[in-house]
Amino acid sequence: MLVKSSAPGKTILFGEHFVVYGTPAIACAIQKRSYCQITPAPSPSKFMRLELRNYNETLQLPDVFEPRGEYESFKGLIEFLYRFKGTYNVTFRNLQVILHSDLPPAMGLGSSASILAALAHGLNLYFKLNLSLQDLNDLIFQGEHVYHGTPSGIDNTLCVNGGFILYQGGKMATLDTQYDKQIFVINSGVPRNTRAMVEFVYKFKESNPQKFKQLQGRMEEIVQSAKTALLKQDSTVLGELMNQNHQILCSLGVSHPKLDQIVKICNDYGALGTKITGAGGGGCVICLIEDDRIPALQRGLTEKGIAFFLTNITHTGLQGSANQNGTPE
Ligand code: PMV
Repeated sequence: MLVKSSAPGKTILFGEHFVVYGTPAIACAIQKRSYCQITPAPSPSKFMRLELRNYNETLQLPDVFEPRGEYESFKGLIEFLYRFKGTYNVTFRNLQVILHSDLPPAMGLGSSASILAALAHGLNLYFKLNLSLQDLNDLIFQGEHVYHGTPSGIDNTLCVNGGFILYQGGKMATLDTQYDKQIFVINSGVPRNTRAMVEFVYKFKESNPQKFKQLQGRMEEIVQSAKTALLKQDSTVLGELMNQNHQILCSLGVSHPKLDQIVKICNDYGALGTKITGAGGGGCVICLIEDDRIPALQRGLTEKGIAFFLTNITHTGLQGSANQNGTPE
């Protein structure tokens, strides 16, 4: 038996931070994915062999384990496996699991949800549990609590379903557009912490209530216009709205000199739109640019030693296959 599964990452296109205070936000799945492979162990084993390729680590997980102590560095993952086992009463003996992700961790691209999603779907297929997408979404959402405290649910929903969502006041609606443009995701390399940035914005709001209200009103208009532009697949308008969204985030104070530098480079290369994505303070910038300008921007970023990838917005959420006679990696 060979099971292979994968799940996309995500990026927030419009409305970050203000979404915490009830304004809508738009996010989409991206075609950078996390992958899971599950096979039986080649010889009888009492353990699950869990290979975490991004960390060069292999854990030997006994069938009965406590999600603490020696597993502390991977506690989100281990807690998830612990709960999965308890809920579905499966045995982890004789199992080899390989996990890896093409998403950089802790950069606001949903890497934790994406890895959990690939793993959850892999286990679902391996143990023939027939879990629905909603079951898987709920499972991953619970797992995300360990990483993020109070996650919004955006990341797990996009990892499972792909496409676009409009999120407001805890409610999520699918945005029915086939827009699938390539975007640059540019990694500042500056670590960030969502919780700290949300706290920072809360303080801004408390000390500048009028200013915050004004910015919030503008962001609301941007998100509504972006929704229309996505439905019309209008990249020019989307780009302009991304720039405006970015300016508002700068007014909140969540940019960083490195992010400013990246945004300037993209503008110099004639981008349609460039913005911080997610919490800011570091993390990633996303950039929309006409196809014929892509190679020049790629060269420009490479020359300056700035890490980036070019990816498509994707409508493909969870994917997976189970073969009796497949060849593992
Ligand atoms: O950078 P991320 O993907 O963790 O996104 C944070 C988005 C915020 O709006 C800043 C916070 C939130 O919970 O919505």
